[in-house]
Amino acid sequence: MSLDTDTRNQLIETVRRFVRERLVPIEAQVAETDEVPREIVDEMAALGLFGLSISQDYGGLGLSMEEEALVCFQLGQTSPAFRSVIGTNVGIGSQGIVMFGNDEQKAEWLPKLASGEAVASFCLTEPEAGSDAASLRATAVPDGNEYVVNGTKRYITNANRANVFTLMARSDPETPGAKGISAFVVPADLPGITIGKPEAKMGQQGAHICDVVFDDCRIPRACLLGEEGEGFKVAMQVLDRGRIHIAAVCAGVAERLIRECVAYARERKQFGQAIGEFQLVQAMLADSQTEAYAARTMILDAARLRDAGALHSMEASCCKLFASEAVGRIADRAVQIFGGAGYVADYGIERFYRDVRIFRLYEGTSQIQQVVIARNLLRNLEV
Ligand code: CAA
Repeated sequence: MSLDTDTRNQLIETVRRFVRERLVPIEAQVAETDEVPREIVDEMAALGLFGLSISQDYGGLGLSMEEEALVCFQLGQTSPAFRSVIGTNVGIGSQGIVMFGNDEQKAEWLPKLASGEAVASFCLTEPEAGSDAASLRATAVPDGNEYVVNGTKRYITNANRANVFTLMARSDPETPGAKGISAFVVPADLPGITIGKPEAKMGQQGAHICDVVFDDCRIPRACLLGEEGEGFKVAMQVLDRGRIHIAAVCAGVAERLIRECVAYARERKQFGQAIGEFQLVQAMLADSQTEAYAARTMILDAARLRDAGALHSMEASCCKLFASEAVGRIADRAVQIFGGAGYVADYGIERFYRDVRIFRLYEGTSQIQQVVIARNLLRNLEV
């Protein structure tokens, strides 16, 4: 569903102002305390940010992918840790239920996820299964009217706040690879689930990732998401969508960094003039702007493809690959333009440099995006 133009513009303007007035001023505090304040989380909920992608029937805003990308361009213009608070409810935590849930599963979880009353996390990655997701070892063995789940999930975003997990586990332990995997919607308070302590990370303090350990956790059969044995496809389709969302956040961070660089290049004087007068600095600004513009444009194109129901795995991976690599280069140039000021903590540029590094890793590394793109070409391109 799509908003009318006025409502869309109002929403984007509201998010833009929220980011500038409420989030930017506390970026350093959040990085220092490793915590997004509760009142900010509540304000995000009141703005409807937890429910961007959930249909209005379940209390969400029901945005199209294109509209979600436009919101992410704004949300990206501050520390990405803020986006992470709502990220799993909007993306990988909820979308399995949105796309594959039955009516009961949707009615039980989507209203709470849309309002922010509940938090969802996505349990795919394991200690021995990262890029090679189909090699996951967690098991969900059928036993009467239940499945018995065992295994460890790793680096699970928002696991310490989660009320529900989208879990990928092997329901047929005899069948290796993708085909033995099923997806489940698992309430986080069931006996046999333990959450590890948040990992100390390079960046994005305030966003938490933890282990989730399942130890003889019995889940009802009704937790099965989609068909038995189809869990790998559930995960891949959730990630296809998530990769456009993450790319849009990268484009937002890129735009913020360019604004910071332009302001600094206008004001900072060396050799008797603003450093923005020097063509070597101009070249860095121009390269960053060109990449940010390219990212924004391709993301909107891929989002429209998705909204039109067209196959978009390859385009989603192109966006994630390009935007995450581009924002890495843009953050590096920002440090260069700021010089010593870019390297010390006061200006926050080094924090963005660390924050953006994860974008090339999670929801599929750059190398995995290359694999997806090249395989799609080799399989499908008419020559
Ligand atoms: N949509 C639908 N089905 C898909 C699909 C897609 N996008 N991609 C693959 N499939 C299907 C295939 O068609 C195939 O089905 P059939 O056998 O019926 O034809 C099946 O899934 C297996 O596909 P592949 O043979 O391509 O599988 P593979 O083992 O070679 O792996 C991969 C493919 C692209 C490398 C995949 O493993 C992958 O994306 N890896 C990266 C995982 C990833 O992104 N992890 C991030 C976790 S989430 C996170 O980071 C955040 C957090 O909070 C932890």
